[in-house]
Amino acid sequence: MEMIVDLGKDSYPIVIEKGVLDNCLEQIGRVAKNCKIVIISDDNVYPHYGPRIEKQLQDHYQVNSIVLPHGEKTKSYDNLLPIYNQLLDLNVTRTDLIIALGGGVIGDLTGFVAASYLRGVKFVQIPTSLLAQVDSSVGGKVAVDLPKGKNLVGAFYQPSLVLIDPETLDTLDDHFIKDGMGEVIKYGCIKDATLFEMLEKAGNFAKLKENIAKVIEICVNIKRVVVENDQYDFGERILLNFGHTLAHALEAHYNFETYSHGEAVAIGMYQITRLGEKRGQCPKGTAQAIKDILISYGLPYQTGLKMDVLTPYLKFDKKNLDNGLKIVLIDEIGSSFVYKTDSEYFTESETC
Ligand SMILES: NC(=O)c1ccc[n+]([C@@H]2O[C@H](COP(=O)([O-])OP(=O)(O)OC[C@H]3O[C@@H](n4cnc5c(N)ncnc54)[C@H](O)[C@@H]3O)[C@@H](O)[C@H]2O)c1
Repeated sequence: MEMIVDLGKDSYPIVIEKGVLDNCLEQIGRVAKNCKIVIISDDNVYPHYGPRIEKQLQDHYQVNSIVLPHGEKTKSYDNLLPIYNQLLDLNVTRTDLIIALGGGVIGDLTGFVAASYLRGVKFVQIPTSLLAQVDSSVGGKVAVDLPKGKNLVGAFYQPSLVLIDPETLDTLDDHFIKDGMGEVIKYGCIKDATLFEMLEKAGNFAKLKENIAKVIEICVNIKRVVVENDQYDFGERILLNFGHTLAHALEAHYNFETYSHGEAVAIGMYQITRLGEKRGQCPKGTAQAIKDILISYGLPYQTGLKMDVLTPYLKFDKKNLDNGLKIVLIDEIGSSFVYKTDSEYFTESETC
């Protein structure tokens, strides 16, 4: 299936199809002809899919690959210079194409390289992790990390095409499947009760996988609409941050070591809904429904940590504006809203 992200001159198609990686020549041909192609990937993903893609393209394009170590450290600002230098050594010009082949780390980094190298080169996203397929490859947020924090240098730069092959999830480690499921569950909570029910009904990832292309399509479509309404993140896009205020605080407190992002978001979603429920902002039983679904997909929902330990981090949340903290709450499963409060909101609960 194919959908278009309608952003005027920045519009682009997203193709979601099992096996689409074997159709790269035709797909890439839609956005680039007679040019050089550079594939940027990491050392986990490239051996599985890199040569398969290169083989299809190399009779028609001059193809080179840059393979980086896997992991968040690769998204560091310090890695930009060697990549720019390699692109220059390969004589990549503004009419050439860069492909991001990998998870969110490769997608964000490559997108930033594409946005900045020679003031912008076209790029295609081929996301291979669940998180990248349902979230990071769509919407044009590209970034690198600084020593003082994640995603501190970046841009809004849309890809020319996103190719999603759900079959790449076959080689993705369980740990990262769970991580991506945190975001999938998030979409159900904030925008789509039917998706939430579908996840409940499947009850685990092995069962859900039978319908994974449909699940990805539903998530991407939710993100598409939100991005179309708020390309530059001044309004509705904040809803995608459900569970993230507490998640960022937990990640910072534990120095990004104890919980993965998806796990931290899972805890954040349950805890914020529990607080919302206490204040009568959503029906009783909503938090329990989220807790149950998190458990069934192997995600945590609590840490036992004292909430006041997290207050200093909450005060520095990026969405903390003019001393007010913007949090996302759900009024029922499938419907969300932004609530302006402050860090005191969280201390209603002793632990998290
Ligand atoms: N741009 C956005 O809108 C946005 C949104 C959410 C997250 N992000 C960013 O995404 C990043 C996290 O993304 P991620 O979870 O995909 O991490 P990741 O890119 O590190 O991928 C997770 C791991 O899985 C491996 N991998 C990926 N696909 C594979 C496959 N098909 N087979 C085998 N191994 C595979 C990778 O090598 C890596 O070790 C973070 O940097 C985060 O800031 C960006």
